Amino acid sequence: MIVEVYFTPYEFAPDAVAGKTVAVIDILRASTVSAVALSNKAKEIYPAGSLEHAERLADRLADRKPLLCGEREGRIVPGYDLGNSPLEYTPEKIGGRTLIHCSTNGTVAMTATGQAAHRLMAGLVNTRAVVEEMARYGLDVALVCGGKDGAFALEDAFGAGRIIALLAEYFPEVLLGNDHAGTAEYIYEKNRDDPLTLVRDCPHGRYLADLGFHEDLEICAQLDTIPVVPRMAGEALVGAKDPAD
Ligand code: MLT
Repeated sequence: MIVEVYFTPYEFAPDAVAGKTVAVIDILRASTVSAVALSNKAKEIYPAGSLEHAERLADRLADRKPLLCGEREGRIVPGYDLGNSPLEYTPEKIGGRTLIHCSTNGTVAMTATGQAAHRLMAGLVNTRAVVEEMARYGLDVALVCGGKDGAFALEDAFGAGRIIALLAEYFPEVLLGNDHAGTAEYIYEKNRDDPLTLVRDCPHGRYLADLGFHEDLEICAQLDTIPVVPRMAGEALVGAKDPAD
């Protein structure tokens, strides 16, 4: 198995992920929100690449009474139902509901991976479940970090490194397909004993703390607390395993 890492969604041509299993990694906070929402029984989550895309989805899916969710600069988009804090995604608010999720980086990254064979969303909270799913598929893997506004984000690189480390338990012969994969592995090894400190100290973590989202950082830094794999089925993320595999 070959594993490649991209630190932003702008680093690869669409066909670079064709036929592979992709995991989109946006630790702060889109991946964590997806895992929490599906764990709390949201019916489905439509990732949107822009506010305009979210609006078009809302029009098309109007009969499902979707909830508009997401952020700009970390804050709820005016007029939206929910922001981007995992704490908002309680069973009472989102159980059984269709969500349209528009975040600045994570959901954009997902919309760039249309040619992949399997498309998953990975946080620290569900890494092991994601890796088990990847092992089931057995295909080469591309790890696409959400990054931050088109640039590298340390917490996402750490998340990519953790996936590589856990994949190596299933495939000891796993090959690193590019230099970014080696860099992600290095960042993970250096910080593996204290993910919370890394998440608190990285620029996006500090920004979210300034906005008052301290508790989000603690949730997003937890390891394997949610055994749910958000998986694209058509245009939406769902939580159940792919019955065809
Ligand atoms: C993103 O997609 O960039 C994040 O989820 C932003 C955030 O922390 O809300």
